[in-house]
Amino acid sequence: MYVCLCKGVTENAIREAIYQGADRMRDLKASLGVTEQCGICACHAKQVLDETLVQKSQVRDFISQPACRCETAARGEETVAVMVVSLISPMFNSSPLGGGGFI
Ligand code: FES
Repeated sequence: MYVCLCKGVTENAIREAIYQGADRMRDLKASLGVTEQCGICACHAKQVLDETLVQKSQVRDFISQPACRCETAARGEETVAVMVVSLISPMFNSSPLGGGGFI
C-alpha cells in the first residue's frame, strides 16, 4: 500500500528502510523522500514507523533469547531462523507482489 503518493513510497519500502537503520521520521524523509512535498503522508508514515520499530524490537529481543528448550533447538541457527521468519513474515503480507514480501 502506498503511504506517500508524491514520492511513490510504499509501507514495505518504509519497513525495509527501518530494518536497515532508519528510526526517525527525518531518516525516512532523507532516505525515501517521505513528507518532502505536500506532507499528507506524515501521519501514516509515522504510524508505520512506530509499528515497525516495535516489531523490530520484538525480533531483536527474540533473537537475543536462548533457543527454546525443545529438542529442535539443538539444531541451532536453522531453528532460530525459521522462528524469526515466522515471526516477522506477517509484516510483509501487504506486499504489492502479493504476500511473502522480500524475505
Ligand atoms: S504524500 Fe508524501 S509528500 Fe505528499
